[in-house]
Amino acid sequence: MSISRTTPLRVAVLASGRGSNLQSIIEAVEAGQVQAQIVAVISNKKDAVALERARKHGLKDLFVDPKPFAGRPDSRDAYDRSLLEVLQQHNVELVLLAGYMKIVTAVMVNAYANRMMNIHPSLLPSFPGLDVQKKAIDWGCKLAGCTVHFVTEGVDEGPIIIQAAVPIFDNDTPETLAARILVQEHKIYPRALQLFAEGRLRVDGRRVFIEDAKPDGEAIISPT
Ligand code: GAR
Repeated sequence: MSISRTTPLRVAVLASGRGSNLQSIIEAVEAGQVQAQIVAVISNKKDAVALERARKHGLKDLFVDPKPFAGRPDSRDAYDRSLLEVLQQHNVELVLLAGYMKIVTAVMVNAYANRMMNIHPSLLPSFPGLDVQKKAIDWGCKLAGCTVHFVTEGVDEGPIIIQAAVPIFDNDTPETLAARILVQEHKIYPRALQLFAEGRLRVDGRRVFIEDAKPDGEAIISPT
């Protein structure tokens, strides 16, 4: 059963880099395709392009500096506790990791269980981690893709919400493949966000079900 909300879902986006996924989410919100409000864009990198994008669209941009915590044995947890404080100050209901290149700890995962999503440029569970487009090509895969999943403590391991498949061509380089995957990322992340905002995602163990899904399914996008 989907739920209807009276106020838009309060979302924070965490990003470390160029923020093209952030941009796709901003545009979907601005176009009214997604009933959510981006209440903060947060980065662990002061000069992240993502923060510039946020400012350009009049969104709150926040840099949470990891330096004060560096060298401590609990540096990751301590960082995440300060991040959590910021999220709670802004009454954030859903956290979106969008090119956020820092491993989140149990501090964040427990506070936002089934309320934190990540996007990853492979068809998980194949190729978690880094340099995944090169790994898919080198393995000889014919299909690559991208995945939106809920975040658990295991890196790139959480329950899968939506995937899109992308063909790998003989002449692909990691860069050309990454660019083709990115086009699909920009479709599936706003879609996953909207499904969450509509209250249509139900998690059952490892599986995520979309309530009232169209007969052709809404959780996979195939190559066109
Ligand atoms: C995207 O391809 C995203 O899937 C990937 O980083 C890129 C960020 O691009 N994320 C990961 O690899 C996380 N494991 P963007 O900053 O332009 O959105």
